Parts: sequence; C-alpha cells; structure tokens
Amino acid sequence: MSTSPVRICSVDELPGPAGAVVADIEGRRVTIARESSGRLHAFDDTCTHANVSLAEGEIEGDRIECWLHGSQFEMSTGIPKQLPATAPVAVHTLTIDETDGSVYLTLAD
Ligand code: FES
Repeated sequence: MSTSPVRICSVDELPGPAGAVVADIEGRRVTIARESSGRLHAFDDTCTHANVSLAEGEIEGDRIECWLHGSQFEMSTGIPKQLPATAPVAVHTLTIDETDGSVYLTLAD
C-alpha cells in the first residue's frame, strides 16, 4: 500500500540538468534525480550492491551510475542495467502541481 503524497520542494529547487539530491521522506532516504532532458525520478537512495548513496553517483541519460563499483540503474524502473548490482531499487511516484511548481512524492511499498 502506498502512502499519501508528500510535498517535498518546488521544482525550481531541484538540481539539474543531470543532478540528484537526497531527501528523507518519512524516514526513508530517497534520491530525487533530474535527467539532462529534464525528466524527474525518485528512487531509494541506497545502492542494492552495498550501502552507499546513489545520489552521489553520475547521471547518464536515463541511468544513474553508482560511484563505488559502477552499477547502473534505470531511473524510471529502478532495474539494474549493469553489474555488479542485480536487485532493483524501489521507485517512487513524483507529481508536479503545475499551478505552483510543487513537487509531491508518493512512497512505494
Ligand atoms: S556499492 Fe553500488 S555498485 Fe557496489
């Protein structure tokens, strides 16, 4: 079951293009990332290979690369596309209120 949407910031406060930040959402570390195209993503911050922050990695296209061993995760699905990670990261839902630019996040299970 998903939680209710939580306002996390204004879209203007997010880094990018090709940037990422970490937010603590109800005790869960979540990466909010922006592709160079402007598309936004939200997913669990901890690499599934070891306990490091994915937000400190590098964004290339629709993927983020873990800085420690180079695993790449597709940001829209959380699926690893390059070893050594084999387990996906959970992906969360972002919505933007076009009237004021507020960004809302709904945590996945
Ligand atoms: S800790 Fe991320 S690939 Fe190893």
